[in-house]
Amino acid sequence: MEITVILSQENETLPKAELLARLKTLDIDYKILNEYPGVVELDVDTTLDNILELGNHLAYTHEILSNIQETTPDNLQKSIESINWKEYVKDSFKVRVKRMGNGDVDKDGIERNIGGYIKQESQMPVSLDNAVHTIKLVYTDPILETNEYKESSVVGYNKIIISELILEQNKKHFFDNKPHKRPYFHPGSMSPKLALCMVNLAHVHENDLVLDPFCGTGGILIEAGELNTKLIGSDIEKHMYEGTKLNLAHEGFKDFEIMWEDVRKLELTEKVDAVAMDPPYGISTTLGGDDTKELYHEALIAISTYLKDDGYICMASPHYIDLYEVIENTPLKIDEQHAIRMHKSLTRIITVLSKK
Ligand SMILES: C[S@@+](CC[C@H](N)C(=O)[O-])C[C@H]1O[C@@H](n2cnc3c(N)ncnc32)[C@H](O)[C@@H]1O
Repeated sequence: MEITVILSQENETLPKAELLARLKTLDIDYKILNEYPGVVELDVDTTLDNILELGNHLAYTHEILSNIQETTPDNLQKSIESINWKEYVKDSFKVRVKRMGNGDVDKDGIERNIGGYIKQESQMPVSLDNAVHTIKLVYTDPILETNEYKESSVVGYNKIIISELILEQNKKHFFDNKPHKRPYFHPGSMSPKLALCMVNLAHVHENDLVLDPFCGTGGILIEAGELNTKLIGSDIEKHMYEGTKLNLAHEGFKDFEIMWEDVRKLELTEKVDAVAMDPPYGISTTLGGDDTKELYHEALIAISTYLKDDGYICMASPHYIDLYEVIENTPLKIDEQHAIRMHKSLTRIITVLSKK
C-alpha cells in the first residue's frame, strides 16, 4: 500500500525520525519512495488498522493519506478522468487541495471542478461538513525561486499526489493535555508534543515498562501511558514526586510506580523496556553543585543496568553538553541526535541511545 505522510515542518529532522521509529516499533515493513519538504511517500506492507495505530500516536505527523495516483499540474484533469471513482468514493465526499509551501494554486476553482467531476462519476453527494471520504490533491515537489535577498519562495509544483485521507492528527489531544491544565504544574514541564515524540524515539511498545528517572511533573510518563504501558518514575524533589503521582492519577492511569529518589541511587526490581528523560540543564543546589555532565554520566550508568539489552533511551539535553563525552565508559552508544532551537542561547539536543 502506498501512503503519503504529511509531516510538521516545525523541525527539520524530528518528524521523520519519529515516524521511522514508530514504524520500526510497530514492526511495519516500509520503503521510502519519495521525499519532499514536509512530505514522505512510503510503500508499507501492512493493514489499514496498523496505519491507524501508527498515525494515532505521532506528535509531528499531521496527516496520513492513501495514494490513488500521481500526476503533474498539467496532467491533473486527464489523471482525474482516468480514475474509476466508483471504486474510491462510495459515500459523501469532498475534495481538498493541499499546497506544500505557498505556491500560487487556484485552490477553490480546482476543488470545485474536480469535486463536480467526481460527483458525476461516483453519483455520490458532496458534503463539506460531514464527508465520509476526503480526496486530497497534494501539490508537492516545489519549484523554488530565490530573490536578490536570498529569500526563496515556491513558484510552482512538479507533482500532485491524488490521494484519500486516512487519518488526521487529533490536535485536541495536545490542546487538552497542556501542562498548565494538570493538577500539578511547574514551569519546567515538557510540551506534550515533544514528550510524545521522545517516547516514540525510545521505541515504546504497548505493555512495555517505561522509566523516566527525572520525571518532574510527569509530562513524559503521561504520553507513554497513553500507549498502554506500565510506568516507573522518580524525582529527587518531593513536590515533583507527589505532583507526578497526582497528574498520572488525574489522567486515569493505574499502572505506575513513582519514587522519591536520586537517579544515581535508583533500585528497581525488574528491567525496563525503554527510558525517556529530560534531566536538569543547569547546576542546581539540589544536586549539591554537581556538574551536569557528571550527573548525566552517573545517571546513564545507573539506568543502563536496568535497561533491557534491546531497549532504547531517549534523552533531552542542552547543546553545550557533549553527550559523546558523557557516554564514555558506559555500555551505551548514540544512535541519532536531533536539534531543537529554543532561543538564541539554547538549543535542545534530543539523543537516542542504545546498548553497544
Ligand atoms: C527538566 S525537569 C523534568 C521535567 C519533566 N519532563 C516534566 O515534563 O515535568 C528535571 C527534573 O529532574 C529532577 N532531578 C534533578 N536531579 C535529579 C536526580 N539526581 N535524580 C532524580 N531527579 C532529579 C528535578 O527535580 C526536575 O524535576
